Amino acid sequence: MSKSNKRAAVILAAGKSTRMKSSRSKVLHEVGGLSMLAWVTKLAKSAGAEKIVAVVNGGPSDVRTAAEDLGLEIAVQDPQLGTGHAVLAAKEQLEGFEGDLVVLYADTPFMRVETLADVFDARDKRSDIVVVGFEPSVEHAYGRLIVENGELTKIVEAKEANAEELAVNLCNSGVMAASCKDIFAALDQVTNDNAKGEYYLTDIVGIMRGEGKSASAILAGEDEVLGVDSKVDLAKAEKIFQSNKRREMLADGVILRDPDSTYFSHDTQIEADADIGANVVFGPGVTIAGGAVIHPFCHLEGARVSSGSQIGPFARLRPGAQMGENSKAGNFVEVKKAIVGKGSKINHLSYIGDAEIGEGSNIGAGTITCNYDGFHKSKTTIGDGVFVGTHSSLVAPVTIGSGAYLATGGVITKDVPNDALAVGRARQENKEGWAKRFRDAMKKRKSK
Ligand code: UD1
Repeated sequence: MSKSNKRAAVILAAGKSTRMKSSRSKVLHEVGGLSMLAWVTKLAKSAGAEKIVAVVNGGPSDVRTAAEDLGLEIAVQDPQLGTGHAVLAAKEQLEGFEGDLVVLYADTPFMRVETLADVFDARDKRSDIVVVGFEPSVEHAYGRLIVENGELTKIVEAKEANAEELAVNLCNSGVMAASCKDIFAALDQVTNDNAKGEYYLTDIVGIMRGEGKSASAILAGEDEVLGVDSKVDLAKAEKIFQSNKRREMLADGVILRDPDSTYFSHDTQIEADADIGANVVFGPGVTIAGGAVIHPFCHLEGARVSSGSQIGPFARLRPGAQMGENSKAGNFVEVKKAIVGKGSKINHLSYIGDAEIGEGSNIGAGTITCNYDGFHKSKTTIGDGVFVGTHSSLVAPVTIGSGAYLATGGVITKDVPNDALAVGRARQENKEGWAKRFRDAMKKRKSK
């Protein structure tokens, strides 16, 4: 073994996604709002990989494009002749890399960074090659890790295993690490002389042991190594993610009134003592401060909620919604790309989009910022201490000065100066006795 601080990762993503029955490649399906490929990339980076190569197939380019967007180097494996052949496809990209190489699968999104840290630790202290194993609770066809006296001697694929080997329940997750040099030297000796006619990556353990090198296994939890091949697996993965996240949130001091009905994204950030009601969905990019209350049935995405704020019930915060301290977005309120200042309140039935509202303003029920003319988006600016009467339509671009008062039912098309009253509606005209005269005339006509 050789102690090395440099680390690289190869992410296998060339398998065909037939069982997923999807027009999108398997590894681009999302768990907690993040693609599986991105999860694994995040893991590789957190584990300190300075070079990451994704092995993709020569088919549809969606995986390749996504991998490039994630900043990964690309190796193409075409055709797919097994996991060993897949790692070999990245030989050119990893040529001359002096350090450890860890093999990860793009369809296995949950491996913990702590487990990978244990793998590298075992590499540094104990073994030339370290494999992550697990103990499946259901019938399976995983490769078996054969351990003798604490040393991993080989991995036997289920199809090649004898009865004694099949009885072993310590299985190969697929994740393994060794020095980059050792992996490629061993891979050069792997043949496809086996039941599946494939080049098995797993054979490198036996090859390295045959050369007098050491090998060991690290045990991971079954959920951690869940591979996602189908929509059933994807649903299972989402369930695992959500239940882990709920547990994490509760442990961090967040109040979840009905944890099982609260849905999180991979990056949801909620401080202790925020109070989250039942049936709340957090899309990506949400930050909630302690002391904020999210009432039931809200949907939030790309939004920031400050302390003391109250959201919902039945509110929707879309990307760019920034709710200041002690602000409010009440029932049936939608806020998009808008800054709502400290203490400002939008209590009922409103759409506030492309807007900036100062502090202590009151936005009446049914207020709409008319931000879109069919071609462009325009901004509504509302100052401090503004009173917007109910059912106001603010036709952007428009600026309402601080302290202004908008009369109910206005269609506001012109800027309103500070402290002014704006009345943007037709004057009411009352015609005395008209209704009675009308009814009488109609009754007479009907009785003829
Ligand atoms: C492999 C292991 C097996 C282990 C199991 C865990 C081998 C020979 N066997 O099984 O010991 O228990 O994973 O799930 O390694 N891939 C490619 N190119 C290929 C083949 C596969 O990129 O030519 C990728 C797949 O996209 C997938 C991963 O490698 O991400 C594993 O492939 P899969 O076919 O699911 O695993 P097995 O070979 O059956």
